[in-house]
Amino acid sequence: MTVLVTGGAGYIGSHAVLALIEAGRQVVVLDDLSTGSRDLVPRGATLVEGDVGDEALVGKLIREQGIDAILHFAGSIVVPDSVADPLFYYLNNTVKSRSLIAAAVAGGVKHFIFSSTAAVYGEPEASPVDETTRPGPISPYGSSKLMTEMMLSDTAFAHDFRFVALRYFNVAGADPLGRTGQTSPRATHLIKVALQAVRGERTHLEIYGTDYPTPDGTCLRDYIHVSDLADAHVLALAHLERGGESQVLNCGYGQGYSVLDVVAAVKRVAGVDFRVDHAPRRAGDPANLITRSEKIRAVLGWEPRHADLDVIVGHALAWEDSFNAREKTRAVG
Ligand code: UFG
Repeated sequence: MTVLVTGGAGYIGSHAVLALIEAGRQVVVLDDLSTGSRDLVPRGATLVEGDVGDEALVGKLIREQGIDAILHFAGSIVVPDSVADPLFYYLNNTVKSRSLIAAAVAGGVKHFIFSSTAAVYGEPEASPVDETTRPGPISPYGSSKLMTEMMLSDTAFAHDFRFVALRYFNVAGADPLGRTGQTSPRATHLIKVALQAVRGERTHLEIYGTDYPTPDGTCLRDYIHVSDLADAHVLALAHLERGGESQVLNCGYGQGYSVLDVVAAVKRVAGVDFRVDHAPRRAGDPANLITRSEKIRAVLGWEPRHADLDVIVGHALAWEDSFNAREKTRAVG
C-alpha cells in the first residue's frame, strides 16, 4: 500500500505523512517546495520534487511506485492573496487538482483524500454549520477549493473512484513530539501572530474587530490541533478502503473560542504578556465559524486526542522555540 501525498513537505501535509508512516503506510511525497521545506518531510517518506499539475509525472509515479491512494494537500491558502490574484488560485488549486484527478483516474487510483476548507461556507447565516449547510464562498480561495470538491463528486459518479473531502476549520498546533510544525514566516493566522508577539518578533498583536455580535465582541472560531486533523486523514483512507462511500466531512471540534480567548491562552501558556491593540474589522471575517462534529465522528470513528486550546498553543510554542533554536544554530554554523 503506497500513498502519494501532495504537499507533504508543508505544514498539514507533513503531519499527515507522520500519521501515515505510524499507521504502517509507504509514503511518496510530491511537492514543488514552493512553500514547503525538504526538512519537514518525515524520515521514511520518499520526496519527489515536482508539480502536482504534471500529469505525466504523476502517471509515472502511480505506475512505478505502485500508488493506490492519493492525499492531496498541495495548494495555496492565503485568502487576501486569492482576492488579489484569483487566476493564480484557480490555476494552483483548481486546474492542477483537475490534472491530478485525471492522472488518478487514468492510473486506476480509486481512493482520494482532499484538503478542503471551512472557507467554502463564506459567511454562513447560522453557526454552527454542518455538512448540509449550503456552501457560499466569498473568496477565490474558497471557490477554488469548492470547485475541486465538485470535480471530485462528478468524477466519483462517472468512474470507479471514491473520495473524502475534509473541510478544515482553524488548524493550529504542532506535532507533540516536535518532529514538524508550521514554518512559514508569512503566516497570518492568529496563534502564529500571537506567538510572534510572545517572542518579540513583532511589537504587538492587533485584534481585528471588537464589535461583532459574539459574547465578547471578537470572532469565534473552531481551532483544531493539526495532529488530530492528520489522524482524520488516516481514518478517511481506511474508510474508503473498507468500501465506504464518498464523503464531505467538516473537521473541527464543535467548540468555539474568541480572539480574546486565544490571546489569553497564549499569554497564559507562554507566561509572557504582550501589547494588544484594537483594530478595525478585517474584510471577509465571519463573526462565528464553528462546525458540528457529529458526522466526522460517526463516519470515521474519529476521536480527537488534543482538543484543548492550551495544548494546541503549548505545542505550537514548543515547535517555534525549537525551530528558532535550530535556525540560530544554522546561522552560526
Ligand atoms: N485575527 C486577529 N488578529 C490577527 C490575526 C487574526 O484579530 O493578527 C482574528 C481574525 O480576524 C479572525 C480570527 O483571528 O477573527 C482567526 O483568524 P485567522 O487568520 O487565524 O483564521 P481565519 O479564521 O481567518 O482563517 C480560517 C482558515 C482559512 C479559511 C478561513 C475562512 O485558516 O484557511 O478560516 O474563513 F480560509
